[in-house]
Amino acid sequence: MIDTATNLKGRDFTSIGPWSRGDLEQVLDLADELKAARAAGEPTDVLPGRTVGLIFQKPSTRTRVSFEVGVAELGSTALYLAASDLQLGRGEPIRDTAYVLSRYLDAIMIRTFAQADVDAFAEHASIPVVNGLTDEEHPCQALADLMTIRERFGRLDGLRVAYVGDGNNVCVSLMHGCARFGVRFAAATPGDYQPPGAAVEEARVAAAETGGSVDVVPEAAEAAAGAHAVYADVWTSMGQEAEQSARTHAFRAYAITPQLLELASPDAIVLHCLPAHVGEEIDEEVLYGPRSAVWDQAENRLHAQKALLALIVP
Ligand code: CP
Ligand code: NVA
Repeated sequence: MIDTATNLKGRDFTSIGPWSRGDLEQVLDLADELKAARAAGEPTDVLPGRTVGLIFQKPSTRTRVSFEVGVAELGSTALYLAASDLQLGRGEPIRDTAYVLSRYLDAIMIRTFAQADVDAFAEHASIPVVNGLTDEEHPCQALADLMTIRERFGRLDGLRVAYVGDGNNVCVSLMHGCARFGVRFAAATPGDYQPPGAAVEEARVAAAETGGSVDVVPEAAEAAAGAHAVYADVWTSMGQEAEQSARTHAFRAYAITPQLLELASPDAIVLHCLPAHVGEEIDEEVLYGPRSAVWDQAENRLHAQKALLALIVP
């Protein structure tokens, strides 16, 4: 019997920030349970009869499909809502949209550009709001990342996680997540592409309470040395296409190559949120090689988000 009783009902998941280690642990534990139940062919319809809206203002493969399938497996209905098809795309205010959708739906996930828009949605909605990626954060990705690392090593405390590349949305959410679980996190980024200072400071405060640490360093080799997980994301995120050539130049030394992996722990795994650009931030033999946990990581989006919804949707 899967137990979803919790103190998390009604909570938003717009950012890792307000979520404690205990809160996140509930999600990771339930995600493991839902994954095992699904593998055993048991039903996981612990959230029957709800309707979850999914607003997308950017493209998606994993987030869209894992939410749509996950909601169905919970016994609920998912509604895919392209932002361009909503009146939101013609200027209807976020506030009005949030008021109205709260009357129809039981929860809403939003993928958009500005974090402030997701925060405004959450402020005005009376249902839980989930961040499905903004320019600033990708907290659902961080849940799957933490789940995957814990699944491979049986723990998070004391592990070293190295992130190589852009100090972007994925980096920031991973950093916050690692900080809450006693991980020694290091991001290797070029000087102009470091994660925002305020986010680093916030993560350091959290890490100080868990025995973890947060470092931002200039060299990929420095971050990767002794790491248990080496993580890459694209050099050019959605919405940054005009900067592509400058970014390709700036990040050329920030890739997961076999040589970089030799510096990591002998049992190190490779992570990438996907989509990957082979030959840019990750080499082909690394992405498809024996250390790659990338496909488990992508699968775990499904289990982690099912757990999240099962816990926050009243
Ligand atoms: N990792 C991730 O969020 O992938 P999508 O952009 O395909 O949803
Ligand atoms: N940083 C990437 C992540 C894609 C899942 C982007 O925002 O495009």
